[in-house]
Amino acid sequence: MDSPRSFLFVLGSSRTGGNTETLARAAAEHLEPEAAQEWLRLSDLGLPPFRDRRHIGDGKTPFAEGPEKTLQDATLAATDIVIASPLYWYSVSGSVKNYLDYWSGWLRVPGLDFKARMGGRRLWGVTVQGDEEPDVSAPLAGTLRLSAEYLRMEWKGVLLGYGSRPGQVLRDEAALAAAKTFLDPARDTPGIRY
Ligand SMILES: Cc1cc2nc3c(=O)[nH]c(=O)nc-3n(C[C@H](O)[C@H](O)[C@H](O)COP(=O)(O)O)c2cc1C
Repeated sequence: MDSPRSFLFVLGSSRTGGNTETLARAAAEHLEPEAAQEWLRLSDLGLPPFRDRRHIGDGKTPFAEGPEKTLQDATLAATDIVIASPLYWYSVSGSVKNYLDYWSGWLRVPGLDFKARMGGRRLWGVTVQGDEEPDVSAPLAGTLRLSAEYLRMEWKGVLLGYGSRPGQVLRDEAALAAAKTFLDPARDTPGIRY
């Protein structure tokens, strides 16, 4: 029997109670009971803007502390990372992008072995967009897919819903139906789920 999955849900909206969080929680309701869940709201953490230190001094990233350490520990503890980002300007939100930028720094922390340790873990996306044209979230899906591939993670696709006002995604019956099976480990369709 496989060991239990351990999920990190990274909430990337700039408001609380938004549609993306609602859809992510709808998907999480169908996780197996033994799966661990950690939820981190980026807007609560106060993560500073990422700084590229590759060409400063020895180019190594200092050891993390504060909110960076919280995120780094949670990231490395998870078998499955779910990026729950609203669609902002066709891509991930700024806070999610900042979190992903930190991954570049973590590649250069002595002894952390970030790239090797991330390999084989699963990356999932959940997003809600206002536009009714599904293709506009392709850049978000591409960002997450290519990032997963770079780290040799297993890409598991995006769950996509529609909504603008908080709660509106609850009227998106197709998204709620897809949420029931989205996090199923056996599901083998890593594209966008409408
Ligand atoms: C800064 C910003 C940028 C947005 N950009 C897009 C966009 O490019 N395409 C789109 O369809 N909706 C866009 N929206 C609408 C949001 O995706 C939509 O309201 C969604 O429900 C927000 O997610 P949330 O409810 O989880 O906060 C944008 C909203 C904001 C605040």
